[in-house]
Amino acid sequence: MSQIIIQGGRRLEGTLTVQGAKNSVLPVLAATIIHPGRTVLHGCPRLSDVEASIRILRHLGCRADWEGEDLVVDAAHLNRWDVPDDLMREMRSSVIFLGAILARLGWADLSYPGGCELGPRPIDLHLSALRRLGVCVRETGGNLSCEAGRMAGREIALSLPSVGATENAILAACGAEGETLIINAAREPEIMDLQRFLRAIGCQVKGAGSSTVCILGRQRTHDAEFTVMPDRIVAATYLSAAAAAGGEVELQRVDYRHLSTVTAALHEAGCQITGGRDTVSLRSDGRLRSVRAVRTAPYPGFPTDAQAILMAALLKSQGATVFVETIFENRYRHVDELRRMGADISIADRVAVVTGVSSLFGAPVRATDLRGGAALMVAALTAQGETRISDVHHILRGYEDPVRDLRTLGAEARWE
Ligand code: EPZ
Repeated sequence: MSQIIIQGGRRLEGTLTVQGAKNSVLPVLAATIIHPGRTVLHGCPRLSDVEASIRILRHLGCRADWEGEDLVVDAAHLNRWDVPDDLMREMRSSVIFLGAILARLGWADLSYPGGCELGPRPIDLHLSALRRLGVCVRETGGNLSCEAGRMAGREIALSLPSVGATENAILAACGAEGETLIINAAREPEIMDLQRFLRAIGCQVKGAGSSTVCILGRQRTHDAEFTVMPDRIVAATYLSAAAAAGGEVELQRVDYRHLSTVTAALHEAGCQITGGRDTVSLRSDGRLRSVRAVRTAPYPGFPTDAQAILMAALLKSQGATVFVETIFENRYRHVDELRRMGADISIADRVAVVTGVSSLFGAPVRATDLRGGAALMVAALTAQGETRISDVHHILRGYEDPVRDLRTLGAEARWE
């Protein structure tokens, strides 16, 4: 499976069940070590980032095995507090294990997580949150040595609503004596899912989804089963694909509310969208209009992870759309690849202007990062001819089997 080959020009029709959310299951997998027992995760997506997390869990002494569609973790025999460089480098978000290891053992030894394709990925807010809880963090030569001793609950004010820092603070606070209050917490739905998991194993966490999260640490935990929430960015990907290609699709296992800024943009572009209890349907004639400026922001604003994807859907729209990427420094790496297909996009720092063109042309392109790769798939569906997408390992970090899903919706796509 080294390339995804897509023949453009087909309308999309059909029904697809959306996979579990990568950005929920990764912190949940770290959270499993807080309970010295067994947890069963239903609806866990089979992603390379999940496999990387499984390798870390096994390195720490846990059992982590697939049982059919379920991922079963047993953290009873956790016996290490270090995550070596090779495992840390496999997945940048492995820093999320820091808070969980500290909560369980009081010690943690991780190598500094690498940067990534989106630009520098500092963890200063993670570390300042842990220091507030009394953790002694020594940063020496690319290594983080953390000694928590007896963490004490405190008020932690985040200078910006970082998703990862919020999650690390919540996890560490589960091991702190007394109450921790996280102020200016990120409000993403994935953090609500983490709270749901922690409460399922017996932790006392409340307020996730709001800017203030409260944790009462050192609770007795117990075995539990948990179903991972659906992936709102994967849902946004296939809605954008149908919007651009034209057609009528229904996505199942989607929480419509978590997608509202994306569906609002697609509606403004000319799609008909209806939301059910846990479904969302979209109908499009494939002739889209440009939309008002799209400015990415922390939830509930427009998700930065959907920026490239919506951009790809609008490449042939009437008019021009302005994108402002406020979250990451370097999140337009997909633009050069889209230009190879005939897109008209101009960039000035964090602003991109997409001017609709009459045609796109299939071309050999490379996935530059996870969501940039997804954007290439969306663009390929509306291009004339064949598009060959390589470096698909980026895409497989967050999409279980994009060819399977696109074919389910009627696209002409295959692996090669
Ligand atoms: C999470 O990354 C997601 N990853 C990202 O999804 C998502 O794009 C991002 O949140 C924003 O929604 C996972 O959940 C695994 P942040 P995270 O901390 O936690 C700066 C995808 O495509 N910052 O909210 O790393 C940071 O540089 C991925 O699925 C600091 O300055 O995001 C960035 O500019 C990509 N210091 C901004 O905050 C810190 O200590 C937001 O980062 C932490 C972050």
